[in-house]
Amino acid sequence: MIETLLIDGGVRLKGEVTVSGGKNAAVAIIPAALLADSPSTIENLPDIDDVYCLRDILIWLGADVTFEHGVMSIDPRGITRNDPPYELVRKMRASYYLVPVLLGRMGSSCVPMPGGCDIGNRPIDQTIKGLTSLGADVDLSGGVIRAQVTDHFEGTEVFLDFPSVGATINTMLTAVCAKGATTIHNAAKEPHIVDTANFLSSMGAWVKGAGTDVIRIRGGRPLHGSNYAVIPDQIETGTLMIAAAATRGDVMIRGAIPTHMESLTAKLLEMGVHVNEADDRIRVRADGKLRPINIKTQVYPGFPTDLQQPMTAMLASVPGSSYVTETIFENRFRYVDELRRMGANIRVLERTAIVEGVPQLRGTRITATDLRAGAAMIVAALIAEGRSEIKGVKYIMRGYERIDEKLRLLGAMAIHKTYADNEYNDDEF
Ligand code: EPZ
Repeated sequence: MIETLLIDGGVRLKGEVTVSGGKNAAVAIIPAALLADSPSTIENLPDIDDVYCLRDILIWLGADVTFEHGVMSIDPRGITRNDPPYELVRKMRASYYLVPVLLGRMGSSCVPMPGGCDIGNRPIDQTIKGLTSLGADVDLSGGVIRAQVTDHFEGTEVFLDFPSVGATINTMLTAVCAKGATTIHNAAKEPHIVDTANFLSSMGAWVKGAGTDVIRIRGGRPLHGSNYAVIPDQIETGTLMIAAAATRGDVMIRGAIPTHMESLTAKLLEMGVHVNEADDRIRVRADGKLRPINIKTQVYPGFPTDLQQPMTAMLASVPGSSYVTETIFENRFRYVDELRRMGANIRVLERTAIVEGVPQLRGTRITATDLRAGAAMIVAALIAEGRSEIKGVKYIMRGYERIDEKLRLLGAMAIHKTYADNEYNDDEF
């Protein structure tokens, strides 16, 4: 099967659009529901491939799961297995959140090493540190994470070497299962960390300090199912804000949390974009010339690495020199080759992309090499002259719910096409 996204560039995006539920919150909260002794209902889930993948894993483990209209009900009481299959686990990074929850539920877990976007080295040493500090036995031989509860599985002090999102979530999930007090130092502060902690609290866990760099947990409490709605997607919100600004459009983004967007908003204002916020709405308006800027990705509340790619695509046609430095993942500039094929003038020196804005990108056939590279391709295609055909759409569908529909709602010509292998015609484009 071949999937493409066809976009005709040159349209100023206008109108209103609603943000979907947060992917990176959803993929942590769904596994966390397995820690309960009764069913949970999770609302506002995005209709994306990562959520379907987790649903399939949970069912495979023995849980009773339904997922319709953004609502997943999860009854974990039938779970009999602790060894999710490689074919499902390899599809997404977040599948390793199953390690602590199956450990907590079953006393041991056996989870193949996770997959996910190829954006550089993605070690899991800090997750292992969290698990072993809390007294779990962990063995990594054969590409499988085998974790086992021991006699000394109990709360403790955990110092993360880096505020890793995944390690913070995994350590939090382990700590709610281990009896006694745990303190996680140098914790990540991203909105999805706070959302996961809030979900755990709604299940009866004692978790304080999420959103700061010290999280305290009193573990070992029985957890019950909960009804919970995940937060709106911070990165989808940012991608839509960038798309609105890049096309010199006027877009009202509804259902967003403006405080999650402060680092991006500050950069857009610096460029000369108008950003107005109220409650759960953000209006982004741009007309005329935009100014080049410099960006350095940082952990939250700094500029998110997940918006580095769409932002660089926008800067590719902003006159002047912009410098974009990636500090989180070392391999997150692969998409720049595709932007160059559209006429962008970008050089990458180690971890910095030097972007010399050109007057006009040109539409062509381009490929998304990972999820946020896909967002960059979309932004570039929207501002380019003529038609672009984006391949690698499976990555985009992992994280952006019905993005083609949302763009059409804003006036763009964007069509998601699916072909059988023998139907695809190279000349059609
Ligand atoms: C999460 O990945 C997100 N994924 C990523 O979003 C996001 O880019 C990233 O956080 C940073 O914000 C999910 O939430 C599912 P990290 P994660 O552990 O948890 C180093 C997207 O497009 N590190 O915070 O894998 C690592 O090498 C995805 O939605 C260690 O050294 O990110 C990297 O340099 C892509 N040891 C940095 O920390 C560890 O044990 C950040 O990684 C773990 C990480």
